Amino acid sequence: MNSAIPIDALTEAEAAEELAQLARDIAHHDAAYHTHDAPEISDADYDALRQRNAAIEARFPTLIRADSPSARVGGALESGFAKLRHRVPMLSLDNAFDAMEFTEFCTRAKRFLGRTEPLTLVAEPKIDGLSINLTYEHGRFVRGATRGDGSEGEDVTANLRTIQSVPAELLGKAPALIEIRGEVFITKADFLALNQIQAQAGARVFANPRNAAAGSLRQLDPRITASRPLSLFAYAQGESSEPVAATHWAYLQRLKDWGFDVNPLSRLLDNETDAEAFQIKISLARSGLGYDIDGVVYKVDDLGLQRRLGFVSRTPRWAIAWKFPAEQATTVLREIRIQVGRTGALTPVAELEPVNVGGVLVARATLHNEDEITRKDVRVGDTVVLQRAGDVIPQVVSVVTERRPADSVAYSFPDVCPACGSHAVRPPGEAVRRCTGGLICPAQRVERLIHFVSRPAFDIDGLGDKTIQEFFNEGWLHGPADLFKLPEREGEIAKREGWGKVSARNLCRAIVARRTITLERFIFALGIRRIGATNAKLLARHYGTFANWRAQMFAASQIGSDERVELGSISGIGPTIAEELTDFFAEARNIAALDELAAELTIEEAVHADASDSLIAGKTVVFTGTLETMTRPEAKARAEALGAKVTDSVSKKTDFVVVGVDAGSKARKAAELGVRTMTEAEWQEMVS
Ligand code: IVH
Repeated sequence: MNSAIPIDALTEAEAAEELAQLARDIAHHDAAYHTHDAPEISDADYDALRQRNAAIEARFPTLIRADSPSARVGGALESGFAKLRHRVPMLSLDNAFDAMEFTEFCTRAKRFLGRTEPLTLVAEPKIDGLSINLTYEHGRFVRGATRGDGSEGEDVTANLRTIQSVPAELLGKAPALIEIRGEVFITKADFLALNQIQAQAGARVFANPRNAAAGSLRQLDPRITASRPLSLFAYAQGESSEPVAATHWAYLQRLKDWGFDVNPLSRLLDNETDAEAFQIKISLARSGLGYDIDGVVYKVDDLGLQRRLGFVSRTPRWAIAWKFPAEQATTVLREIRIQVGRTGALTPVAELEPVNVGGVLVARATLHNEDEITRKDVRVGDTVVLQRAGDVIPQVVSVVTERRPADSVAYSFPDVCPACGSHAVRPPGEAVRRCTGGLICPAQRVERLIHFVSRPAFDIDGLGDKTIQEFFNEGWLHGPADLFKLPEREGEIAKREGWGKVSARNLCRAIVARRTITLERFIFALGIRRIGATNAKLLARHYGTFANWRAQMFAASQIGSDERVELGSISGIGPTIAEELTDFFAEARNIAALDELAAELTIEEAVHADASDSLIAGKTVVFTGTLETMTRPEAKARAEALGAKVTDSVSKKTDFVVVGVDAGSKARKAAELGVRTMTEAEWQEMVS
């Protein structure tokens, strides 16, 4: 490519060649982004390609190609959906990257209008989602389409009907025909939760919330869309059989009256000079917003002026997107480090050549899991595209293969724990490889100790994460039993920096007070995988005493034993959980640590009570769709064990609907009735 040559120095032949190359490259990246929802380069790099293309065209207007990227908006259409032609084309926005470019936009608009007085503008945060066009006839939603190539989109009506913020009927008076445009998006939290579910199911994870929203809306099966938490902010008009407002601000008001969500951060600015302060305000609010934004859109408020200003090529003269600095960047991956979590999960982390991503220095990024590394073929030494979405952990989006060192080798995931050398195993069907070292693995110990003293476990006041780490580094804590030896060091603790006599005494008292503990807290505190608070309670109630539980678990490690069968048949436990327990007891070192700990404690006998104190006791629950971490009967048994009533159909009396994959009419019904829905992961959190 000639991109290093200054535009002024390009010969006509070079310019023609580069324009052809740019047309191919931009078309390729458009398809990657819009059609496959899998971008290969950062937005900033993409914008740079387009800018270069526009600059060359400006100097050589006779060379503008018929397939010039500046005349096109988005990507080609994915097959599978019917095509819908937009009555009014869906165009794009020109970008400004700094105050100067923004001022130029205002100057151009005023010059075009022959005005000197300031422009009244509407400012709207620019959400990074996908734009859609909704057609309403006589107030009823009849059709909806994606932007597609700008003139023709995909008919995603059925999918749009599953989105709560797309009104089925407009409230109040509306024109006989009106097209309303807006952005479909997914919140950052829902994006992360969705990716976690995808990763656990071995399905592809989405690069960013925008791709997750696009991927969710463009599902051939609307039931999948229904299970994905999509939202919509409305912000523009298409065709209308009669005028609905004189200003854009008034139009936004009408949208709200009709029942649409309009971004609450939108503002009317009397004067274009207010834009800079607004830009700063929104960029500061950005990381705290629940959804991703990539800039602010400024629109001339007066619709009469908008009509006069019109369009140039693919963008309006009356609006501009003032973008924030890119939150994507490329850098070199120095090393892949394996982190070990509390339950032994090995998580690959990319150690990077530090790089500024949207104003934050990033030196590390998550690589999710083994399969993700394989799928993206990430290698040490690679140049990678990084992405940071608000305050979300940075992630490696893709590899720039052209910059791969010649001697690079594919990454091979370790099969031993990097911290303790124990085998790291990956059960078939699971995405995560785990260290089998249990309590003896030093990397797991700190995490386990932190869990051990946490509120639902031993609840020891004054022992925060940092203190645990410090005492561990000091060599005072090896396993949980050592916590109860800390009071012997009261004097030493008092002398430490940040401590005094009173705080040391309080800590030691808090520890001594926990020498007596309930069996369920004790079991939970061990931090055995899948033994959350609820399962710990089930076990405590079933086995009653520590001695009995220990003996039974020990015996249950024997496959085929009566004790194993008994364990698996406890309502709510099931075979997977039973196996976690027996695996734990099969390890001699775990038993030794367990006994050492029990020797320090008085473990109270559990009382058989009803389930009335569980969060879901007395509630009516419906499960719908395919559940991924439990079978339907297992889910039902577990809910019932906790005092809930499980029914098959959704009604006003339903308290929760747990929505699995491919959920359909029940999820929709719940939305209609305003019944609370939750993902399988949220349900698991509530009952564990
Ligand atoms: S107005 C003719 N307003 O940005 C102008 N677009 O880069 C139509 N977008 O395709 C667009 N927030 O996907 C407009 N408040 C907003 C927006 C917005 C996000 C997206 C939209 C559009 C793209 C243009």
